[in-house]
Amino acid sequence: MIIAPSILSIKKEDLRNKLNEFLTNNIKYLHIDIMDGIFVTNNTEKAELLESINDYPFYYEAHLMVKDPLNYLESFKNAKANMITFHYEAVDNVLETINEIKKMGLDVGISIKPKTDVKVIEPYLSLIDLVLIMSVEPGYGGQSYLDSADDKIKYLAEYKKNHHLNYLIEVDGGINPELAIKISKLGCDMVVMGSYLVKNDVKETVSRLEKI
Ligand code: DX5
Ligand code: ZN
Repeated sequence: MIIAPSILSIKKEDLRNKLNEFLTNNIKYLHIDIMDGIFVTNNTEKAELLESINDYPFYYEAHLMVKDPLNYLESFKNAKANMITFHYEAVDNVLETINEIKKMGLDVGISIKPKTDVKVIEPYLSLIDLVLIMSVEPGYGGQSYLDSADDKIKYLAEYKKNHHLNYLIEVDGGINPELAIKISKLGCDMVVMGSYLVKNDVKETVSRLEKI
């Protein structure tokens, strides 16, 4: 199971220590939550947030919880994002958004909110690198996992197998090790972990999940 820590709930003064701890424990992916106060009510720094930490050798996934993600592509490319994940619900033209991200040489992920039917992204599954299933309403860390994600994971895993595709299935929101173990059995490849890793030991969490 791949662990992608979210930095959303880490206090600024603790951030560099925590990033070093992630590296020491062989964590390779970092999940950067970006919010615009429009697509979600919460607001964050944008590409400057990534710029302030991109000297680490992580694979950076920018989870853009923003309306009109196309407006952000250039700044995130310049800030050395490796993957841009945008929300299906936030764009008028999904195909154009995928193509623009690819043109920049970046990997592309599509995210869906808890109430969005997973089938709406079916036409795009052969074109993308990752699906990000939201298991909480996007906007805040520290919420509880919504079981509605379970069937979406199963559906995407089955679809991937039947169509010989290789997108990653990532799940975001309310994840702890017990849930990660449960959803890995459903076909989840990668979990985002925010508040759990703020409150708990990174080494122990990694060692529990590296085997699955
Ligand atoms: C929520 C964000 C998540 C969040 C996860 O909108 O997309 O990435 O930081 O945090 P936890 O693990 O606390 O739910
Ligand atoms: Zn996220």
